[in-house]
Amino acid sequence: MLLPCALLAALLAAGHAANPCCSLPCQNRGVCMTTGFDRYECDCTRTGYYGENCTTPEFFTWLKLTLKPAPNTVHYILTHFKGVWNIINNISFLRDAIMRYVLMCKYTFTLPDSKYSFAQHFTHQFFKTDHKKGPGFTKAYGHGVDLNHIYGETLERQLKLRLHKDGKLKYQMIDGEMYPPTVKDTQAEMIYPPHVPEHLQFSVGQEVFGLVPGLMMYATIWLREHNRICDILKQEHPEWDDEQLFQTTRLILIGETIKIVIEDYVQHLSGYHFKLKFDPELLFNQRFQYQNRIAAEFNTLYHWHPLLPDTFQIHDQEYTFQQFLYNNSIMLEHGLSHMVKSFSKQSAGRVAGGKNVPAAVQKVAKASIDQSRQMRYQSLNEYRKRFMLKPFKSFEELTGEKEMAAELEELYGDIDAMELYPGLLVEKPRPGAIFGETMVEIGAPFSLKGLMGNTICSPEYWKPSTFGGKVGFEIINTASLQKLICNNVKGCPFTAFHVLNPEPTEATINVSTSNTAMEDINPTLLLKERSAEL
Ligand SMILES: *[C@@H]1O[C@H](CO)[C@@H](O)[C@H](O)[C@H]1NC(C)=O
Ligand SMILES: *[C@@H]1O[C@H](CO)[C@@H](O)[C@H](O)[C@H]1NC(C)=O
Ligand SMILES: *[C@@H]1O[C@H](CO)[C@@H](O)[C@H](O)[C@H]1NC(C)=O
Ligand SMILES: *[C@@H]1O[C@H](CO)[C@@H](O)[C@H](O)[C@H]1NC(C)=O
Repeated sequence: MLLPCALLAALLAAGHAANPCCSLPCQNRGVCMTTGFDRYECDCTRTGYYGENCTTPEFFTWLKLTLKPAPNTVHYILTHFKGVWNIINNISFLRDAIMRYVLMCKYTFTLPDSKYSFAQHFTHQFFKTDHKKGPGFTKAYGHGVDLNHIYGETLERQLKLRLHKDGKLKYQMIDGEMYPPTVKDTQAEMIYPPHVPEHLQFSVGQEVFGLVPGLMMYATIWLREHNRICDILKQEHPEWDDEQLFQTTRLILIGETIKIVIEDYVQHLSGYHFKLKFDPELLFNQRFQYQNRIAAEFNTLYHWHPLLPDTFQIHDQEYTFQQFLYNNSIMLEHGLSHMVKSFSKQSAGRVAGGKNVPAAVQKVAKASIDQSRQMRYQSLNEYRKRFMLKPFKSFEELTGEKEMAAELEELYGDIDAMELYPGLLVEKPRPGAIFGETMVEIGAPFSLKGLMGNTICSPEYWKPSTFGGKVGFEIINTASLQKLICNNVKGCPFTAFHVLNPEPTEATINVSTSNTAMEDINPTLLLKERSAEL
C-alpha cells in the first residue's frame, strides 16, 4: 500500500529522501512536477496565482477574494434570520435568484491528482475491486442518479427484475402488501450469507441491499412507487407498450428522487432557513453543463457509516447489529408501516465529532481511509483551502476539544498532515448539525450541482412530454419524502428529518426513511459532478 503523501512529507522532514512533490508545495491548485530527484516546479497556469509555489495572487484574484463573502458568512446568513427567510421564501423571484446563486456561486473542482487519471481510477477502483473487497459492505456507484439500486446496474439485471407487463417490476404479495420478488423468481443474484432461507432472499436492483432491513425497506418503497406510477401512466396512455411505460416511469422516479434529495434531504443537512428549490429552469440561461461525473472524493465524503446506531429499535423490539444484518424477516414481521415509524424515531449518531464509529462498521471506515491513501487525496487543509475555507491551525481548532486533539497530534504530528476522511469524522459539528463545516461546504455544492446536472434537467428533457405528459410532470414537481411514504406505506406514517438537540455537543438526528437507507442512497445519488479539470 502506498503511504499517504502527508506521511511521506513527515518522513522527508525526518531526513528521508522522497519525491519533493509529496510535500504538496504547490498551492491554489498549482500542479507539481519534479525536475530531477530533489527539485520541483509548480505549474500555476490559470490558477490566478503566480510565484514559486503559486502563492501570490494576481490582481483580479485578490479583488475576487476580497469581495467574496467567506463560506461561513454565507452559511451564517442562510442559517439565521429565520423571519427574513420566511418572507423571502414566499417571494418567488427572490427565492429563484438566491437558489441560482447557491447553485452557481459555489463552483467546485477537485484537487489535481498527480497519480491517476480520474476515469481510470474510477472504473478500476470503484466499480470493480470494491465489489470483491468487503462482506457486502461496499457498493457500486452509478454515474449520477440513474436509480441503479432499483433497476440494476446492467441491462441484463434490469431485464431479470422486470415483469415485462405494463412497465412493471416483478413483485410478490405477502399479507396483501407488495414486496420484492425472491432471487429464485428473478435469477438476479444478491449477496446473502448461506443461512438466509430462500423465501427471505429478496431480489432488488442493488445486490447488497439485503444487508440491513433499512435498505430493503427503502428498496420496497421505491418498488411500490414504480409499479404505482406504471398504473397511472397506463391509464393516461393505454396505447403504450411495456417498454415505453417502463422507461417513462423510470424517468419520473429519477425526477422524484432529485426533488426529494434537494428539497428534503440536502435542505435538512444544510440547516438553511432558505428554502432550497428544485427547478431546472433556473439554470437554463446560465453556463451550466449537463453531464454526470463523479469525483472520487465524493465516495469518501458520503461514507456516512457513523450514522448507524449500535442497536435498532423496531416497534417494541430491540435488535443488535448482528441480529439486524441480512435479516429480511424483520421487515415482514413488523410491516413497512412500523419500520418507517421506527426509523423515523431512531436517532442516529452524528457524523462529525468523532467517537461514533460502531464496531461493525469500523471496517468500512478503515477501508475508506486506505482507499483515500491509495488515491493520494490531498490533506484536509488542502481541501479546505480549495473550497475557500480557512485551513485549521491546530488539532484543537479542528475537533473543538482537547482529548482527541492530543491523540491526533501524536498520530499526525502536524495539522497540515491531517487526512480528509478522518478529518471529516473528527471535525466539530456545526451548532445543531450532524456535520462539520468541511462536510457541508464541500458536500452541498457537489451534491446540488451534481443533481441539477442530470440529463433530465437539461432544456431538451425538462418538459411534460418526457414524463408522459402533464400528469407525470406534476408527480415530479410535487414530490416529497412524506408523499412518497404516504402513497406507498399503509397508514401514512410521519417522516421527516429532525435535529433533536440543538446543542453543539449533543446533536443527533431522527433519521427518517432509515439512516442506513439514506446513508446508502447518497453514494448513488449525490456523487456525481461534472468536473472541468478531470
Ligand atoms: C515554497 O515551498 C517550499 C516548501 O514548502 C518552501 O521551502 C519555500 O520557501 C517556498 N517558497 C516561497 C517563495 O514561499
Ligand atoms: C408564506 O406562504 C405560506 C403559504 O404558501 C403562508 O402560509 C405563509 O403565511 C406565508 N408567509 C409570509 C411571511 O408571508
Ligand atoms: C431476525 O429477526 C427475527 C425477528 O424478526 C428474529 O427472531 C431472528 O432471531 C433474527 N435472525 C437472526 C439470525 O438474528
Ligand atoms: C425523535 O426521537 C426521539 C427519541 O428517539 C423522540 O423522543 C422524539 O419524539 C422524536 N422526534 C420526532 C419529531 O419524531
